[in-house]
Amino acid sequence: MALKTAFTELFGLKHPIALAPMALVAGGRLAAAVSDAGGLGLIGGGYGDPEWTEREIAAAGNSRYGVGFITWKLQENIRALELALAANPASIMLSFAEDAGIARRVSDAGVPLIWQVQSVEQARFARDHGAAVIVAQGSEAGGHGAARATLPLVPAVVDAVAPIPVLAAGGIADGRGLAAALMLGAAGILAGSRFYASAEALSHPAAKQKLVAASGDHTLRSSVFDRLRRIDWPRPYDIRTLANPVLARWDADPDGLSGVIDAEIAAFETARDSGDFDHAAVIAGEAADLINDAPPAGELVARMAAEAEAALARPPGLLGN
Ligand SMILES: Cc1cc2nc3c(=O)[nH]c(=O)nc-3n(C[C@H](O)[C@H](O)[C@H](O)COP(=O)(O)O)c2cc1C
Repeated sequence: MALKTAFTELFGLKHPIALAPMALVAGGRLAAAVSDAGGLGLIGGGYGDPEWTEREIAAAGNSRYGVGFITWKLQENIRALELALAANPASIMLSFAEDAGIARRVSDAGVPLIWQVQSVEQARFARDHGAAVIVAQGSEAGGHGAARATLPLVPAVVDAVAPIPVLAAGGIADGRGLAAALMLGAAGILAGSRFYASAEALSHPAAKQKLVAASGDHTLRSSVFDRLRRIDWPRPYDIRTLANPVLARWDADPDGLSGVIDAEIAAFETARDSGDFDHAAVIAGEAADLINDAPPAGELVARMAAEAEAALARPPGLLGN
């Protein structure tokens, strides 16, 4: 059974699976691997560093790819978006801020716009400002996000923006999650954490191993790691990572962190550069329990699709299956 949806039809895909454009983690090789396996690979242009974006677009070679950006950062400097548009990507994905002007730049270039939202209200804004696909991101997600949970948010967004195809994001890392998303009316999924632990991801090998060993019981949304990375994220967004001693200490004492911020930033940077993830951040979500290996990304796409097809043919929760 092929999983044919409005999303696979729009982009000519074999599987309704998109790679989340994880800043500095989803490079060109990872995006290419996902696209080559029949999904849609999105390069994590993140904070809009033109040099990084240019290099990773080149690394995608002749494979299909899209590029994702953090919208409020593009408001400060639009150069990386212009560069990506000039490379004629399969799609541009925008997340984290409602900016009709930036959305129009993408639509005017004739590039399909994928727009990630965290609420029904934001989804309506995206619908009214040119989104070709809307990603409904629940709080379970790794990385930045907001408050609403994936399970009720996805069908609410599907209802609000029909007939625009919706992708479910947040907490999906295997075929059961993909099958469930399709049951909610989504036209596919966008997965980040699952691909963070893949061979082609630019995440540190020690961070991949931490995620493989971790449980979703031990992740936390907080602003601590943004403060330690000197990134001034606007409200209401915070970042979900694996919990570790640094996060536990300062999340409980944000004012205390203010008093020692310079020393803590220095310690954080040393830990990150030396691969010490008891102190640096592993950016991943509640799907951690379902992530138990770090194979090539193409294998993950094939595995998720096959598991979803099997689950939809014989729902594992129904007696008699
Ligand atoms: C390491 C990491 C970095 C991320 N960076 C970005 C980003 O730069 N831009 C973005 O739109 N979303 C980013 N996200 C969020 C993803 O787009 C997506 O919503 C999320 O990964 C879905 O939840 P999951 O991690 O449970 O699959 C990131 C997620 C992770 C795990």
